[in-house]
Amino acid sequence: MSFQRDIYPILENNCLACHTPPQGKGYLKTRLNMQSYETLMQGTRYGPVILPGDSRHSILNMLVEGRVDASMRMPHGRDEPLTRNEIEALQLWVEQGARNN
Ligand code: HEC
Repeated sequence: MSFQRDIYPILENNCLACHTPPQGKGYLKTRLNMQSYETLMQGTRYGPVILPGDSRHSILNMLVEGRVDASMRMPHGRDEPLTRNEIEALQLWVEQGARNN
């Protein structure tokens, strides 16, 4: 998996609207900014949302897979979850070390 080729487009299409400064709702609430690899890896004000090599315990994966309360599923406020392919791409990328490649 490549961050630039496979992962960033998923974030761009599904997450950036709410997770960029200055006005994104998810950004305002948590400070999670997905505009770049660096800011994504910084996570929220409470800490990282991605644990390289461990998608089971990465909050980002839990949220897009719906392994949390339904009210917390991401993308937020939309009925459409990510596609199976998108969910698997995120999983694989994290398992492979969440590299900036
Ligand atoms: C419609 C706006 C919106 C979209 C789109 C959105 N989010 Fe969020 N996100 C939020 C809000 C608001 C929060 C703050 C938590 C809450 O209020 O539920 C949040 C919080 C988060 C958190 C932090 C959870 C925590 O408490 O540690 C993660 C991780 C996250 N979002 C990932 C994503 C991902 C990945 C996508 C795209 C697949 C996405 N979000 C799309 C609004 C959004």
